[in-house]
Amino acid sequence: MKLLVCGGAGFIGSTFTRQRLLEHGDEVVVLDKLTYAGREDNFHEIRDTPGFSFIHGAIEDSAAVAGAITGCEAIVNFAAETHVDRSIAEPDAFVTTNGKGTYTLLEAARKHGLRYLQVSTDEVYGSIEKGSFTELSPLAPSSPYSATKTGADLLVQSYFHTFGLEAVICRGSNNYGPYQYPEKLIPLMILNALAGDSLPIYGDGQQVRNWIFVEDFSRAIGHVLEHGTPGEVYNAGGPDECPNLEVVERIIELTGRDSSLMEYVTDRPGHDRRYSLSSDKVRALGWEPSVRFAQGLEQTVTWYRENGWWWEPVRSGDYREYYERQYGKSLR
Ligand code: NAD
Ligand code: TYD
Repeated sequence: MKLLVCGGAGFIGSTFTRQRLLEHGDEVVVLDKLTYAGREDNFHEIRDTPGFSFIHGAIEDSAAVAGAITGCEAIVNFAAETHVDRSIAEPDAFVTTNGKGTYTLLEAARKHGLRYLQVSTDEVYGSIEKGSFTELSPLAPSSPYSATKTGADLLVQSYFHTFGLEAVICRGSNNYGPYQYPEKLIPLMILNALAGDSLPIYGDGQQVRNWIFVEDFSRAIGHVLEHGTPGEVYNAGGPDECPNLEVVERIIELTGRDSSLMEYVTDRPGHDRRYSLSSDKVRALGWEPSVRFAQGLEQTVTWYRENGWWWEPVRSGDYREYYERQYGKSLR
């Protein structure tokens, strides 16, 4: 299969690109704007693999999309602005990329008659105190990030209903693993712990997330792309849920630090208390997650320990300014 993978230079998209090239023998054209979150370093293992190509461009730019799409049989869209805190501080790019960008890709898929997979998130359902969200749960996003992702999902479904586009949506829970930009909870805490920086816990730290190892989520996306029914949504959640405080405690233990690094900071506005996803529908298609949280977290800490070449340029660059703006203090 020849795939157009949008946002393939980011955390999950680069994992998916690696899997499709190396495990499935697919051809992959990556289209990516290379925002702060996208890096060609994420391709270091596949740069010379036959069938891989990279095009620098934005998904909201119809000419760039038209230039990248030639010969492709399907579009898989990972490209997005993805961080909730940035969506609160500066929502503009979220509307452009997640909204207009998705629309531009849908138009291209429609024109060329391509299959389309939209990568989405459990955050479109909002927060849940007890039980788990299914694909039939109402959409109730809380942040500008999740609201723009919800808008994109609705647009995708409208292209199925109105134009018969062969579109599917795969909604994942919180991903973690190698190559994740350190603004997100797990890599932020790992790198701060390794450096001896304080570990900023929002509110009471009792918010719960459903953690999925990035390779498991990427495989779920491949599975839905191959076996999903057009017009349908598939949730792919991880095997374990964990309150943030416990995530931080585990990271402290794995990095050999102590709890004196923990610092309670002002809560995120509109902070969702708990996410939980039922994955019965995608499990019935034959996918299941294989990595438990304890094992995946240990693997992730080891990866960050051993791959300073990947994160040192990030942590010494623009990220430092972002960190100061967001947390009101500098990194070591
Ligand atoms: P990321 O922030 O690591 O990467 C996003 C990628 O998109 C980057 O390579 C960036 O350069 C690219 N990009 C941004 N704007 C673009 C534009 N206008 N045109 C082209 N490329 C653009 O994100 P991620 O964590 O890998 O998430 C990928 C997808 O998975 C997103 O759609 C996100 O909503 C979804 N998702 C993420 C998680 C998670 O926990 N990280 C969970 C569920 C779903
Ligand atoms: P995050 O990785 O931003 O993912 P999301 O908000 O999309 O679930 O955050 C995960 C959880 O960790 C969330 O409850 C917010 C919390 N958090 C902190 O307590 N401190 C931090 O510095 C960050 C980035 C997140």
